[in-house]
Amino acid sequence: MNNPDLPGKPPQVPASLGDIPEAVRETPEIQPQPKLPRQWLIGAAGGLGAIALLSSVWLVSQSQKPAPSSPGANATAPSPQTEPTVGPNGETLLGHLPYPEAPAAELEPLTMDGNIKLRKAAAAAFESMVAAAQADGVALVPISGFRSLADQQHVFFDIKAERGQDATKRAEVSAPPGYSEHHTGYAIDVGDANAPETNLSTSFEETTAFQWLKNNAVRYNFEISFTKNNPQNVSYEPWHWRFVGDRTSLETFYKAKNLAPAPSSTNSPQ
Ligand code: DAL
Ligand code: ZN
Repeated sequence: MNNPDLPGKPPQVPASLGDIPEAVRETPEIQPQPKLPRQWLIGAAGGLGAIALLSSVWLVSQSQKPAPSSPGANATAPSPQTEPTVGPNGETLLGHLPYPEAPAAELEPLTMDGNIKLRKAAAAAFESMVAAAQADGVALVPISGFRSLADQQHVFFDIKAERGQDATKRAEVSAPPGYSEHHTGYAIDVGDANAPETNLSTSFEETTAFQWLKNNAVRYNFEISFTKNNPQNVSYEPWHWRFVGDRTSLETFYKAKNLAPAPSSTNSPQ
């Protein structure tokens, strides 16, 4: 099949992107914590004014602390030392879960050239979603759908070598072959036709396409896979969505994985 990034074949994903350029990775935000004033030490001399000031500064300091459970709290810098919170039945490789390749007969082309395919149920839902978005003036474009093991071999190992990344670093943004949701035919990378520069970049979350998906994708049974602070510690991928609209897809992504359900698209990412 035609693959994104295999040499000599029409590119489905520009090889230079390789799922996400290093240059656009988010960096941790450091929230300055305002210090409490010392006015209260003055004691009664400060009177009620000092108490009021202390209270207001304390309130400000609390409001600026990231909530420990907030999806954004650890969104941008998953620690390589942190073990993915996947249970005993979800055997992971560098944080990624194993997935079988979709049967070829189950795949349906999304594009005229046939380069981008999804499983039939997912393809139908995606096409309905594109039409609904278009009616709202939003242009969703498929960037990468089903990927075979050979496709993923290239995406993981060839680009890893090209960039001089070690396996752990590469796995932050790409699944090893055998471990990509793209093998299932239910996962799709989505872009905004009006902002192609955001393709496969975290800046995609600033597009109208992403805002539309965040509000509407659930109606078409698509959900974002790699939220900020996801349980697998895979980097945030606002462009990567998966179909969970029938029994097989739901079982593929949830059964025996012991993963917490992905936060709903209306709640995540923040
Ligand atoms: N970029 C996602 C993790 C994949 O390669 O499947
Ligand atoms: Zn993807």
